[in-house]
Order: sequence, then structure tokens, then C-alpha cells
Amino acid sequence: MKKVGIAILGLGVVGSGTYKILTEHRDFYKQVHGIDFKVENVLERNRARALSLGVAAENIASNMAEICSNSEVDIVVEVMGGVEPAKSFVLAALNAGKSVVTSNKELFCKYSHELEKAAKKNNCGLFFEASCVGGVPVIRTLLDNLQGNKITSMIGIINGTTNYILTKMSDCGASYEKILEEAQSLGYAEADPTADVEGFDAAYKLSILSSLAFHTKIPFSKVYREGITAIDPCDIEYGKKLGYVMKLLAVGKNSDSGIEVRVHPAFVNSSHPLAAVNDSFNAVYVTGDSVGDIMLYGRGAGALPTGSAIVGDIIYCATHDNFNYSTFNNTADADPATKFLTNYESAYYLRLDVDDKAGVLSKVTSVLSKHGISVARVIQEKQNEGSGVSLILITHCTHEKNTDKAVQEINKNGGFAKVVSVIRVV
Ligand code: HSE
Repeated sequence: MKKVGIAILGLGVVGSGTYKILTEHRDFYKQVHGIDFKVENVLERNRARALSLGVAAENIASNMAEICSNSEVDIVVEVMGGVEPAKSFVLAALNAGKSVVTSNKELFCKYSHELEKAAKKNNCGLFFEASCVGGVPVIRTLLDNLQGNKITSMIGIINGTTNYILTKMSDCGASYEKILEEAQSLGYAEADPTADVEGFDAAYKLSILSSLAFHTKIPFSKVYREGITAIDPCDIEYGKKLGYVMKLLAVGKNSDSGIEVRVHPAFVNSSHPLAAVNDSFNAVYVTGDSVGDIMLYGRGAGALPTGSAIVGDIIYCATHDNFNYSTFNNTADADPATKFLTNYESAYYLRLDVDDKAGVLSKVTSVLSKHGISVARVIQEKQNEGSGVSLILITHCTHEKNTDKAVQEINKNGGFAKVVSVIRVV
């Protein structure tokens, strides 16, 4: 029987899940694929953790060089996270002729050009399904199944932590800070939540996914990014009254005018399939010119869902003789011919603090109209304190720059109204 040796770098949540799947399903894979997948080595500083998982003491490597020189290891699984030492270890594995499976979105987003160059040079596979949206098979879907399409749009909820926080804020009306604290105590959010709540994690993933979808390099620096830390629960409530759900969206669009890639909070119509993606679940809604709309949905994180993506890559690697690399010129920077758009088109939710006096609404709409912005819906809500009211407007589609200018003008001319929230409606 064919034997494939695996080394796992890091036995944290994802590494442990991968180890568990590989060892518990070993006989099943022998039956189904006729291949014996054996974990030959792990690289883990915490020996007690490795031993408690059932790793034999002699299989715990002391360093990366030991794994590179182990001729029994065919595939190296990198699940350490962060750029270094993961990058050096992955390059060492590829240069030793071993294929690599990684879940590391930051590493892959920033350095896939270097990793892919080493993989090609050494005729090795480089697999990264687990780097984006955990157990949801979006990468292979883009790389294989959707190749027949020109993909025009990809809208995703691709960060579970922020989706959990926004769902809970919406369910109980509590502040961002309170829900974050709860999420941290339950282990859903990291002690340092910056990467998730400021949108970095989603931006790394969008950079990877949009490069694949649009067949051109989309560097991280081209992804516009806004997190969820400034979201006021009252906007979520007003949004609900208008039939919207607040989500942190990753949006990639490709048209004849250019490409736009952005991560930011947005209102989604409650009838859209993405509006039903709650808690820590993830989804990617892709539109292709042949297939139309499809949505991939599932768990974007966690030991077993992410382990599922990794083991899928291991099996694919072991059962394919030729490896696929990028369909585009994978360089550090974008192709100079790629045009990136920043003056995004969108409808907007605007919340203004105003005095409840005759003529205020007309003054607001006249500034909006001066900047070409037409209002689609208006509601007025009494504030808890004082004589003011909240005026909530939904605009028709307009350009980002028009909205920025109108908001600046209202806030500068002051007195009659102050714009306190501006949220895109997708
Ligand atoms: N921290 C990520 C999330 C999971 O909350 O979705 C790994 O990418």
C-alpha cells in the first residue's frame, strides 16, 4: 500500500484537530484511497501537549532540519500562524522537496509569490484551502469548479469572531465592548482581538480569494479595511427596523472599469442569503457569468472544520501527480495593468442628530441633492434624552466621494444637523 508521511508544524487548535482527523480516520483512508497517511513527525515546543494527543515521543522533532532530512516525510503541514518562523520553515520544507499544506492566511497573503516560486522550483505542491474560511471549500471551488466563469462579484462573511459579536449585539442590543468581553471569556475571541475586529483577518482572506477569483494579484495593501469597533448598537436596531442586518462584509468586484476590494461593516437586506449567516458561521456569495449566484456556507474556524480543509488538501496532494499554481503572474505587487477602484458605488445609511424643527429635513436633503444623492427612505426616532431626534436616511446608490462631501458639508455648516453614522448598504 502507498504510504504518505506527514509532519505537522504546531499542535495548537488546528494542528491538534488535524492530528486527530488523520489518526482517527487512518483505516478509513486506507480503505477509500488505498493510502496509508502516517504522521511521522510533529514540531511542537509543548512536549506534554504532543504526548497527551498520543504522539509517540520519538516522533516529536527537535527542529525543522530534522523534519527536512526525514525521508519518510512527504507533506509538511504548517499550522503555526504568523509570518516567522512559519515562512522560513515552509521554504525549508519546499526546498527539501516536500509539498506543503498551510492554514496561514497572513503568510500566504503576504508571501505566496515567494512560496509559490520555491514550490515550482522544487516541483512540490503548495496547498492553502484552510487559509480562508476554515472548513468551507471555497479555494478549491474557485481553483477548479468555477474556472469556466468570469467571476464578477464575491461577497463574504469571512470572519467568525466579528460575525459572532455582531449577531450577539443584534440579539441583545448590548455594546460592542460588552459583547467582546463575553466572547473573550467564552473563548470565541482572542485576548488580543485586533486582527479580527479591525478587519485584518478578513482582509488577508479577501486578498487571497480575490486574486484567485479575478486572476490577478490583489496585494493586501489594495484592500480597503474598516473594522467593527465603532459600531453603535442603536444603528443595528434602526437598521433592523428598516429591514437590514449588520455584517462585516468582504467585498470583491470585477468589472470593465476595474477591481474593488474592501472589508467594512455594512447593512445587508434581511432577505439576502448572507443575512441569515449568524454567530461564528461564515459564507461566501459568488457571482459568475455562467453559474450565476452560488453561496458556500459553513464553519470558518475551529479544530475539526479547519482540520477538514487541511486533510482534504493532504489527500488531494497525495492523489494528484501534477500540481496547479496561480493562473496569474504571482508577484509581490499588483500587475501595473490592473486598475483598482476606490470611489465605490453603494447605497448609504446615514444617521443624523437633529433638532425636531420645521425645515431641518429639507436642509439635509438639499445638501444631499447638491451632491447628486437621492434619498430612498427616511425615519425619525425620538432620542432617549434631550429635545433632539435621530433622523435616519437610506440613500439610493451613489459614489463614496459624493457621500463624503455631503457629510462634510452638513457637519461643517453645522447647527441644523450632525451626521453621526455612515454605513454602506450592500
Ligand atoms: N479568527 C478567525 C475568525 C478564524 O474569527 O474567523 C481563523 O481565520
